[in-house]
Amino acid sequence: MSALPLHCPHHEAGRCGSCTLLPTPLTTQLARKQEAVAARLADHVPSVAWQPPRGSAPWGFRNKAKLVVGGTAAEPTLGIRDEQGRGVDLRTCGLYPPDLLPVFDRLARFVTRAALPPYDLARRRGELKHLVLTRSAASELMLRIVLRSEAPLPRVEEHLPGLLADLPRLRVVSANLHPAHAAVLAGPTEIPLTEATLLGMPMGPVTLRLGPDGFFQTNTEVAEALYARATGWLMESGARTVADLYCGVGGFALHAAHAGLEAVGVEISADAVRAAESAAGDLPARFVCADAADPASVTAAAGEVDAVLVNPPRRGLGADLVAALAAGTQRTLVYSSCNPATLARDLAGLTGWRVTRAQLFDMFPHTEHAEVLVELRPARLSA
Ligand SMILES: C[S@@+](CC[C@H](N)C(=O)[O-])C[C@H]1O[C@@H](n2cnc3c(N)ncnc32)[C@H](O)[C@@H]1O
Repeated sequence: MSALPLHCPHHEAGRCGSCTLLPTPLTTQLARKQEAVAARLADHVPSVAWQPPRGSAPWGFRNKAKLVVGGTAAEPTLGIRDEQGRGVDLRTCGLYPPDLLPVFDRLARFVTRAALPPYDLARRRGELKHLVLTRSAASELMLRIVLRSEAPLPRVEEHLPGLLADLPRLRVVSANLHPAHAAVLAGPTEIPLTEATLLGMPMGPVTLRLGPDGFFQTNTEVAEALYARATGWLMESGARTVADLYCGVGGFALHAAHAGLEAVGVEISADAVRAAESAAGDLPARFVCADAADPASVTAAAGEVDAVLVNPPRRGLGADLVAALAAGTQRTLVYSSCNPATLARDLAGLTGWRVTRAQLFDMFPHTEHAEVLVELRPARLSA
């Protein structure tokens, strides 16, 4: 990992402020992040429990580009908006794998050929809001075209064959209709434009499947390490069955199932559950669409299990789930958190459990964000 200051022309020119920790060298960023999370969790995680942090590559690690389209149809910008609402082109952002640059250029050409006027935030005019591009580790692509209305769809459909010919690795394309003037990425209606509706995402020993909507860990290499570590801890606990709560498209459950555990995933998004089911194949994993914050729904979905793994959104676990887990009789709990503040709150409620191992995963280099994995064992066994 480089100990040299990192340079980004967009950051240095003040065009983009997303990577708040630049130009700090990655080794320094990681050491500071480790110190910060250890301090934040000091009441719950003993210092001996910390394993060395898992770092990231400095550049090229993002598997998803969420591109705001600005400028004009003839000269679109793909990137972000500045404070005045004008488009800022970030096609050369270093967070994306370099092989996406020619893809971005082809997308810009598609916008021009299909005469898709970018949405003008101030005037509330125009049609094309965002292009969301996902790249698998096998370099296959999924594109989501976010439009204000159906009006430009015929032009999108007319020019799509040309785009698919230009980009032979483009497997999945959808149009998303997002009529509201709201600061969210996409709207409620998804229109598939290709026969395939899911992109295969190879991750270590399994291939996850992902639709245009829904959560996916954005740093493929670090996510692979996270899934492998969690699976290792589950296996070492001697568990044979595991419930993966807030399972998304099944990353933890499918890795655990590949290692021989019987897994059940619980997730609120029906699309994510369908994607996880389609990725499971012959693995001993099943997926249930239910509210993971509701202990009764979790018990109905998963029954009695030896281990529970949770990976909630930033808000953390609900109080009811924390209370139910605190009273649980599992061999182990594994908690993967993207928010040390809610992790600290939830660990405080998990009375009867004790953190035995913890590790920081640098899923979001150059930002303050930290992904932390902790292993808990019943306090009576591990004291
Ligand atoms: C941080 S993501 C984790 C996804 C997955 N574990 C992974 O590694 O890709 C959180 C997931 O929780 C889901 N979710 C949010 N609220 C939920 C709830 N009440 N019950 C079940 N799942 C929920 C979201 O749809 C999202 O897929």
